[in-house]
Amino acid sequence: MKRAKISIIGAGNVGATTAHWCAAAELGDIVLLDIPAVGDMPKGKALDLMQSSPIMGFDCQITGTSDYADTANSDVVVVTAGIARKPGMSRDDLLSTNAKIVGAVAAEIKGASPGAVVIVVSNPLDAMVQRTWQVTGFPTQRIVGQAGVLDTARYRTFLAMELGVSVEDISALLMGGHGDTMVPLPSCTSVGGIPVTQLLSTERLAQIVDRARNGGAEIVGLLKTGSAYYAPAAAVTQMVEAIVRDKKRLLPCAAYCDKEYGVGGYFVGVPVVLGSGGVERVIELKLTAQETANFQKSVAAVKELVAAMAKLV
Ligand code: NAI
Ligand code: 2OP
Repeated sequence: MKRAKISIIGAGNVGATTAHWCAAAELGDIVLLDIPAVGDMPKGKALDLMQSSPIMGFDCQITGTSDYADTANSDVVVVTAGIARKPGMSRDDLLSTNAKIVGAVAAEIKGASPGAVVIVVSNPLDAMVQRTWQVTGFPTQRIVGQAGVLDTARYRTFLAMELGVSVEDISALLMGGHGDTMVPLPSCTSVGGIPVTQLLSTERLAQIVDRARNGGAEIVGLLKTGSAYYAPAAAVTQMVEAIVRDKKRLLPCAAYCDKEYGVGGYFVGVPVVLGSGGVERVIELKLTAQETANFQKSVAAVKELVAAMAKLV
């Protein structure tokens, strides 16, 4: 069977860690690309990872490069290029710099891998997904943003810590924008099949949701020199796996919604079925009045961000 080709643009913390986990899971051959200004860094990381393969027992090629020709005809391209958040910066502070970087990267992807599914990670996420779509012109199914898998993982981690149970038993879903405007869905959160509302008070659940909402900032505050990368890379790896193994995973992702939820042509966090075609289906849930109001607030924030971006690029 032909191996999938996975290109990761940006060989920094999230990009290199994604390469690490995709390789360990043998999801395909990997190309790690960064700008010429960083010299041979992507080559060094790729070779170092390759040399772990006899010990870890995985078979795949990992190539470091600054040349898009090496990424040609990728099945999946992951975009982690750009600057990351430092203490005191919001994701939106990244807007101007990253909109230009992601626009340039998207133009290269369009030329090199016209059939790829593109997973966008760079922040501010919801605007960067839109930018990637605007520049590539790819069908909307083949453009998807990573945010919900990470936000949900943080929420599930904090719930498991609170309840003293395995994270494996926590099933949850969040919608809306990345982080600050994410929309919790207590009705879709269960612990070993038990609705979470039977195990935690509304007040305690709200505190846990809030910690998950600020999960990215919490890590930035601890690291001081950059933002989270282990959990983000794990989230991306789960999405890559869903695509290259056509798993049809039901995951919260930033996906294009037009009539869906009445969004009107923006990428927002919704439950989707992710398979070899990318976003194969958006799942429309019946939301409560409160959830609908929270979701609309989140969509309004995404629209504002996209409008602000339009003035900068
Ligand atoms: P990093 O600074 O470690 O790596 C970014 C890399 O992008 C650097 O190596 C840089 O040289 C490279 N780069 C810059 N311009 C480029 C270009 N034009 N082409 C190719 N590569 C280019 O940052 P990190 O921690 O890896 O984060 C990357 C991005 O992902 C940031 O924007 C960050 O905010 C975002 N992020 C998003 C998450 C999400 O859940 N959506 C989670 C974590 C990070
Ligand atoms: C995070 O949520 C910075 O978006 C990144 O960790």
